[in-house]
Amino acid sequence: MPKEIDSIPVARPSFDGSELMGIRAVLESGWVAQGPEVERFEKLIALREGARFGVAASSCTAALQLAIRALGVGKGHDVIVPAFTFIATANAVVSEGATPIFADVDEETFTLSISALKNTVLSYELREGALINPATGNALRLIIPVHLFGLCADIPAVNAIALKAGLLVLEDAACAIGARIGEKGQGTFANPSCLSFHPRKSITTGEGGMVLTDDEALAESMRSLRSHGAEVSGYERHTKKDYGLLMPEFNGHGYNFRMTDVQAAMGIAQAARLDSFIAERRKLAEYYSSLLEDIGYLKIPHAPPGYLHTYQSYVCRVDEKAAGGLAQAHQLRNNVMLALAKRNISTRAGTHALHNTGYYKRLYSLRESDFPAADRCEKLSIALPLFVGMTRAQQELVAKELATAFKNLS
Ligand SMILES: Cc1ncc(COP(=O)(O)O)c(C=O)c1O
Repeated sequence: MPKEIDSIPVARPSFDGSELMGIRAVLESGWVAQGPEVERFEKLIALREGARFGVAASSCTAALQLAIRALGVGKGHDVIVPAFTFIATANAVVSEGATPIFADVDEETFTLSISALKNTVLSYELREGALINPATGNALRLIIPVHLFGLCADIPAVNAIALKAGLLVLEDAACAIGARIGEKGQGTFANPSCLSFHPRKSITTGEGGMVLTDDEALAESMRSLRSHGAEVSGYERHTKKDYGLLMPEFNGHGYNFRMTDVQAAMGIAQAARLDSFIAERRKLAEYYSSLLEDIGYLKIPHAPPGYLHTYQSYVCRVDEKAAGGLAQAHQLRNNVMLALAKRNISTRAGTHALHNTGYYKRLYSLRESDFPAADRCEKLSIALPLFVGMTRAQQELVAKELATAFKNLS
């Protein structure tokens, strides 16, 4: 095998030295906790994504928790979450004391199914102006659509349902910085949205997240919540004469969900390359699609017209019909992934069907068939290697090995 294709990871962050320079400057400044770099990073990302405010956090999971809490959602409330997403979307709801209610997804896009969302909302009873869960008495308050793998969920449709039903919307945009529907990008759909800067995302801070919002009061509330409910940040206290000697006032309970200036410096350097990263990811995806369209067993990713997919992940599905049924297609998908692993090509299942995870399955006594589309997405999806700097030769090898594996194993 040629050297460059000895081993192909499923994802790899791209650094060019500018991150190191930024981090070095932070270390030399002597202030490494949340401070001026975090503020710069927040402003930069908010501006880039078209939101008024950015509130950085230690992860997207933490960002989701801050937003859920600041929106006033918690105990006694239900939150609709797609059944196919990373587990953090639902875990953030549980951590805030609320109850995630799963709704099935659209298999073509992997995002929240609008008909499933409508049916879920319709299963609630309207009592004194609130939508009440007839089984538990909980009030439905929030919908969290997820922009999975870099493709926006159908937010105009979600917003229309939410408006009619009097519900809040919080977008899980962990994978989707830069994603758009037509002229509008995530972060501009009139809802708070949460980004992740984990290394598998388009830009990284190691770990990190951010809530984007146009609502100043919400932003203020999240800034306080991420720092134990303090009214003044540590940096302000240490840099402003009047605050220095005083302990901050804590008027509410909060967390330590702060991002550090070291991480933010890395994020600022990465953000300068975001447009080129997205352009390269889209080009890589386009080339994959041209290489893979003839593998009869594989369905390549789909973006509805007008949607700008940023390909945080390039996720295909094994064709259930071509394979002769779900069980056979699932087995084939697993065998193909193993065959690629033996050739040093790393792949992953797209993400989780939450109702199949041990925790949620036990908690709600769920069966695989309760959310059939999510179940199929989990069993049939396969994320192929895609990262900035990936060569055409690497992509061609992945496509060739995939074709061989399907031929030998089907
Ligand atoms: C859809 C989705 N939501 C939330 C998260 C959580 O992000 P983080 O790892 O930054 O907490 C992820 C991370 O992979 C994700 O894919």
